[in-house]
Amino acid sequence: MKEETWEKLLLRYQFAKTMLEKELEIIIGDYEYRTTSHPVEHMKSRLKSKESIIKKLKKKKVTITPKNIKKHVHDIVGFRIVCSFLSDVYDMVNIIKSSKNLKILEENDYIKNPKSSGYSSYHLNILIPLYLEEKIDYVEAEIQIRTLAMDFFASLEHKLQYKLPENIPVYLKRELYSCSEEVKNLDTKMQHLYDIVKKYIDN
Ligand code: GTP
Ligand code: MG
Repeated sequence: MKEETWEKLLLRYQFAKTMLEKELEIIIGDYEYRTTSHPVEHMKSRLKSKESIIKKLKKKKVTITPKNIKKHVHDIVGFRIVCSFLSDVYDMVNIIKSSKNLKILEENDYIKNPKSSGYSSYHLNILIPLYLEEKIDYVEAEIQIRTLAMDFFASLEHKLQYKLPENIPVYLKRELYSCSEEVKNLDTKMQHLYDIVKKYIDN
């Protein structure tokens, strides 16, 4: 692919990232105002590099073309919203899904159905409209929404996976999975405490 084609393509994704940043800032800000709560601990976003896009396409054994990038790489624009409590995750999912400015492409609830690694998070793949050259261009982004505890597990598990060979010994896999269960228990306990505290505040 020509350098010029890459430049044009990545610029569109950069624009989409900026749009989504603003949209999230507004809908989360409005939610915080309405509910006088602070569900988000932190939010991060990143744009996948040209090198990582190429790596992903090579792994999938497809040629590097704009069409294949759109078809196979769904996380060039990536957002991560880290929330305090479990209920906050679902509240954030709902406000994103109700935004008139975003189209939902796919949703995966890896909290209800965790991955075999134990990874849990709520994934939303969305389309952001870009009004360019008198036409609307829809650009995809992936939003991961999770609790602090899920984020703790995902970050450390990812770090360990990188250091390990392809075939992880079974006992290590099992140990890692049991850590994810502890994380799940912690989230459930914290949610329970949060519900009690909220009742105190409401009364
Ligand atoms: P993609 O082609 O990358 O979209 O693969 P997919 O559709 O099979 O995966 P999915 O979209 O469900 O998840 C993609 C992202 O979720 C990854 O880039 C990671 O950030 C995260 N993720 C998924 N599985 C794991 C896991 O087992 N451990 C960790 N730490 N992160 C994971
Ligand atoms: Mg995916």
